[in-house]
Amino acid sequence: MIKRKGIILAGGTGSRLYPITKATSKQLIPVYDKPMIYYPLSTLMLAGIRDILIITNPLDNQKFIELLGNGSQFGINIKYKIQSKPEGIAQAFLIAEDFIENSSVTLILGDNLFHGDLLVNRLQKNYLLDEGASIFAYSVFDPERYGVVEFDSKGVAYNIEEKPKNPKSKFAITGLYFYDNTVVEKAKKINLSDRGELEITDLNKMYMNEGKLIVEIMNRGMTWLDTGTIDSLHEASSYIRSLEKRQGLKIGCPEEVAWRMGFICDEQLYFLSTKHIKSGYGEYLQTILNESKDYFGIQGTKI
Ligand code: TTP
Repeated sequence: MIKRKGIILAGGTGSRLYPITKATSKQLIPVYDKPMIYYPLSTLMLAGIRDILIITNPLDNQKFIELLGNGSQFGINIKYKIQSKPEGIAQAFLIAEDFIENSSVTLILGDNLFHGDLLVNRLQKNYLLDEGASIFAYSVFDPERYGVVEFDSKGVAYNIEEKPKNPKSKFAITGLYFYDNTVVEKAKKINLSDRGELEITDLNKMYMNEGKLIVEIMNRGMTWLDTGTIDSLHEASSYIRSLEKRQGLKIGCPEEVAWRMGFICDEQLYFLSTKHIKSGYGEYLQTILNESKDYFGIQGTKI
């Protein structure tokens, strides 16, 4: 099996969130009780990915390093690179060429939030994909904002259009992409689009034309939120708050994911908890640690 690495694309201008993002990166602002980037980071970790590159804009690079360091606290390796201008999602693979080396790679957008029962299974299954690409489609009421995919009667994707004025389906492509190692060579062949970006849709089409693109539908039992507008950011915070209050479990908590995935041990989780006691975040980490010992006796995988 080929090793799989992960990329979080956390650059961009965040202009739809101005003035909030005028002086700080979108991916550092909170979604309810934690910085936005914790959610995509947790998603990659749940897929089993432990080598992660975070691509940021030049101004905010240091802040991300301050927040997440080299990842050793979560039992993972985090590296950083800068995208000097937001010239498209597919540019991530050119920036990350040295990092990717001979691996397969999973890209997640820094403002995308995934949650749901079957998510972990889907992620871990796709971790094993050595050849081709696998992406997810999600039914939305405003597909014209996204890449839109059309399926034939057998459920096979045959067309993708980037932000079409008249979408031919309601299935938007989410910001989570699993690729094989040919992604870098493919990204090098893409030309700038009319809006001056290297489009991820062009990359996906290359895989589609080779018959190597799998588009899986995320059904309504799963949640995909992007947090790019004021309303969607607020809705994401409300969603996380409701679920966390109801269940007493956190969503997108990398310390917890690291522990449940076996990347760190009980002692390491306890140590991390001591750093955030005043906000209640640390208290939560101690609670799950104690509950696991009391009720399960083992370091469980009950995510
Ligand atoms: P977008 O929401 O399309 O762009 P943006 O974040 O710059 O926001 P706005 O449209 O409000 O100006 O980007 C989606 C995600 O991808 C987001 O997490 C930022 C990231 N991104 C980059 O890091 N670099 C890029 O070149 C692009 C296009 C996006």
